[in-house]
Amino acid sequence: MSSTQDLINKLSAQHNLPDAELLRLLTSAKPETNLLLAAAADKVRRQYYGNKVYIRGLIEFTNYCKNNCFYCGIRAGNSCACRYRLTKEDILACCREGYALGFRTFVLQGGEDPYFTDARICEIIAAIRTLYPDCAITLSIGEKKRASYQAYFDAGANRYLLRHETANAEHYAKLHPASMSLANRKRCLYDLKAIGYQVGSGFMVGSPYQTPENLLADLRFLQALHPDMIGIGPYITHAQTPFAHEASGTAEQTLRLLAMLRLMFPYALLPSTTALATITPQGRKLGLKAGGNVVMPNLSPAGVRKLYSLYENKACTGTEAAQNLALLQAEVQQAGYEIAVDRGDVIKKTKL
Ligand code: 5AD
Repeated sequence: MSSTQDLINKLSAQHNLPDAELLRLLTSAKPETNLLLAAAADKVRRQYYGNKVYIRGLIEFTNYCKNNCFYCGIRAGNSCACRYRLTKEDILACCREGYALGFRTFVLQGGEDPYFTDARICEIIAAIRTLYPDCAITLSIGEKKRASYQAYFDAGANRYLLRHETANAEHYAKLHPASMSLANRKRCLYDLKAIGYQVGSGFMVGSPYQTPENLLADLRFLQALHPDMIGIGPYITHAQTPFAHEASGTAEQTLRLLAMLRLMFPYALLPSTTALATITPQGRKLGLKAGGNVVMPNLSPAGVRKLYSLYENKACTGTEAAQNLALLQAEVQQAGYEIAVDRGDVIKKTKL
């Protein structure tokens, strides 16, 4: 049987492996596997993106949500959640502050909040587009009709983040209520691509009932979708959800998948996520060293950051706060990279 290093070399060179070999990497219990994967991932990331780390200003503009995902702290059924919405003026103030700090991408993220009709979303996008023509506008507002996605795009949005969460339909059904389906999630992702968005997808690592075969299916789905961005983070338990007693995912498994994603998708934008930084003290840095090349500090008004609580103890101070860019810059430099002040578009994708 080939060694772990042989498998990693093959994955680095071919950006792909047969199912059995990917599963071997996913389930390897050898302590050195993550170190070897991270070293290979860092090499590939430097080949494609040099030492650049792209920053996105994250604006969490509503925590109202009509959905009831079993894992999520802002699910409709969580009556303990303290709900808020930002106004258009609040959002524009975040952009103004972010622009001055050096952000050239704004990510508008929110629950699926019926208050924000297509007309209201388009009005916000158009205002940002007019004021900041040199910036990318990213939306992360869930499942919509194709016509809605088209309207947002026409208003000036460029990118869309929608994690598929899990590519296995039975697993999907264990994480979501019957009103939601993997089929519709996929329909959304393909609609977004067809319209011309730069598309981000992804999944949670260590979500309840997840198997190594599910993770393999996630990797295969991403190969088929060929997204520009792939966001992954550990599942983190939230007490006010039906999964209150389920275990969280681990940093180790998240870092392993991050490195594998870098080797399989060398061109991709891969965030070192807040969830990873939340679950382990050096998470942000370790994520960068395992192939991550994006960080998304929080630009939301300080007063609402804790309320956008998808999971417990969300990190939102220190380097998670957009205002502390100097701190983040130091951390990124310490890890061996540099923050880029530009839009940070995906590089020309090669069909692998
Ligand atoms: N733990 C980790 N990630 C979560 N998300 C939602 N709830 C949780 C949780 N409890 C992730 C989902 C969603 C993204 C915005 O946050 O993957 O797509």
